Amino acid sequence: MNISEAYNHWANTYDSNQNKTRDLDQRVTQHTLQKLDFEAVVELGCGTGKNTEWLAEKAKSILALDFSEGMLAKARAKINSSKVTFRQADITQNWNIPKDSVDLICCNLILEHIEDLKIVFGQAFQTLRKGGYFFICELHPFKQYIGSKARFETENGVEVLEVYMHHISEFTDTAAKCGFRLVELKEWFDEKEERNQEIPRLLSLVFEK
Ligand SMILES: C[S@@+](CC[C@H](N)C(=O)[O-])C[C@H]1O[C@@H](n2cnc3c(N)ncnc32)[C@H](O)[C@@H]1O
Repeated sequence: MNISEAYNHWANTYDSNQNKTRDLDQRVTQHTLQKLDFEAVVELGCGTGKNTEWLAEKAKSILALDFSEGMLAKARAKINSSKVTFRQADITQNWNIPKDSVDLICCNLILEHIEDLKIVFGQAFQTLRKGGYFFICELHPFKQYIGSKARFETENGVEVLEVYMHHISEFTDTAAKCGFRLVELKEWFDEKEERNQEIPRLLSLVFEK
């Protein structure tokens, strides 16, 4: 199964399965972005719209991109806002968004499926206005080092998705080469009572153009 086919299947249970990464990402995103000002947003890999819904309360317009029709269908069913435009698109291709037109690019739990970060970071830099933010929240590479991968249950067993490893320095170096300034880097852990190993679950980064 390729990645978009896998997400078409996962779409049916993505919101309801137990998923600590998804839930922590939602908390981290709101915590990080509530202190920033933005009006026009591009969301990369919006999935079922978990973060789109919250972004729509704060922003004036959101263009939400995803290549899985199944995930987009769930998002469209959930979010009925004139501020939000959903578009089926592969973010490794040309985004076709005007240059210098956006205040925030939001990217959650998608870069592990992207082999070449330059393609995404380069377009993010072009698309943002000067002073705009590129927010990334991803499964921490330390989790990948111990074997964590995006996966979901199917009637035929567990489906493990195709993923690529990106070290922390790859995120920061690629961003710097594209022209970004690092504003914030944070590591996020499971709730204390659930924590059984000292490995962060998520890595978040805020870059500024
Ligand atoms: C783990 S889900 C995350 C969804 C959402 N951002 C969230 O935090 O719940 C990853 C999403 O990225 C999308 N995706 C993966 N690779 C993509 C690509 N090359 N272009 C567009 N979307 C992609 C998948 O279809 C899926 O909806």
